[in-house]
Amino acid sequence: MKTYERLFDLLSQSSDYISGEKLAQDLGISRTSIWKAIQRLEKEGLEIDSLKNRGYRLTSGDLLIPEKIEEIAPITVSINPHCQSTQLDAKAGIEANQASNHLYLASSQSAGRGRFGRDFYSPKQGGFYMSLHLRPNLPFDQVPAYTLLTAGAIYQAIKNLTLIDVDIKWVNDIYYQNKKIAGILTEATSSIETGLVTDLIIGVGFNFCISDFPDQIKDKAGSLFKQNPPISRNELIGEIWKCFYQLPSDQLIYLYKKRSLVLNRQVRFLKNQENYQGLAKEISDKGQLLIQLADGQEIWLASGEVSLQSW
Ligand code: BTN
Repeated sequence: MKTYERLFDLLSQSSDYISGEKLAQDLGISRTSIWKAIQRLEKEGLEIDSLKNRGYRLTSGDLLIPEKIEEIAPITVSINPHCQSTQLDAKAGIEANQASNHLYLASSQSAGRGRFGRDFYSPKQGGFYMSLHLRPNLPFDQVPAYTLLTAGAIYQAIKNLTLIDVDIKWVNDIYYQNKKIAGILTEATSSIETGLVTDLIIGVGFNFCISDFPDQIKDKAGSLFKQNPPISRNELIGEIWKCFYQLPSDQLIYLYKKRSLVLNRQVRFLKNQENYQGLAKEISDKGQLLIQLADGQEIWLASGEVSLQSW
C-alpha cells in the first residue's frame, strides 16, 4: 500500500485524534511525510480535522484501496485516478492482454456512460465505478446472464453488510426507496472465426453516499447512504464480487427474481415504435421478460426498458 493509503488505514480505525508523532512512528516515516500524506488524502476528498496538540482525525470520506478489495474477493484490482470510463480501461486492459478476473476501478469518471449510450453521472465524491473483465469463451447462447448475476450479487452484498433490502428493476437497475442507486452495463466481444464470446465486461456504477444530484436526474436518482456510511466502499465492492464468484448462479437468479420490481406488476414498454402495456409474468434464466398483454398474447422482451404502470 502507498503511504497515504496506510495513513488512511490508521485514521479510519480510530474515532479519536491521533498525534502526528504517533502516526509517524507507526508508519515508520517522518512528520513531514505524514503532513504530505494528509494533504494527499484531502485532495482525494477526505475530510480530516487537525487540532494543535492532539493530531489528526478522519471526519468523513473513504479511500478506494485495491489491496483491501483483493483481500475479500478473488480478483485483481487496479484503480485509475484519471478515469474517463472504467469500460474503456477494461477494453485497454484486454488490448494489452491483461489476465481476466481483473476489476478496473475508479472513484469518478469524466465520461461515464450507461445503456443506450446515455451519460452516467459519476461525480468526484461519493460513488464508485468499476468494470470486471471476464473471458467466458462460450457460444453466445451459453453465456450466463451476467447482468442478472451481478444484480443478485449486489443485492446479497448489501444485505450481508447492512441488512438493507434493495430492489431490482429489469433489467439492470438497482433501486432503493424508489430511486435508482446503481446501474449495470454488460458488454461483450466475440470472435467471428470461432463464434465464441471471448471477452465480457460488466460495468457497475454505484451511488454510495451522494446527497446532491443534478436537476435532470434528481427525481430518479438516489444513493444507498446520505451521510456517514456505516461501511466502506472497499468492503462493499469486495463483498459484491465475493458474492458474484461464490454464490451459485441459481441462487443469484433466485434473488434477482425475488427482489424484482416488475414481476407480477403491470408494465408499459415500447416495441417496434408501438406502445404496449401488460403483466410482467416471468423472467427467464437468460434474463428475458415475459409480458402478457390484455388480449392474452405473450411477448418475450430481451432488452430495452419497461416502466411500471403505477410510476
Ligand atoms: C445504466 O444504468 O444504464 C448502466 C450504467 C453503467 C455505468 C457503469 S459505471 C462503470 C462503467 N463505466 C462506464 O462508463 N459505465 C459503466
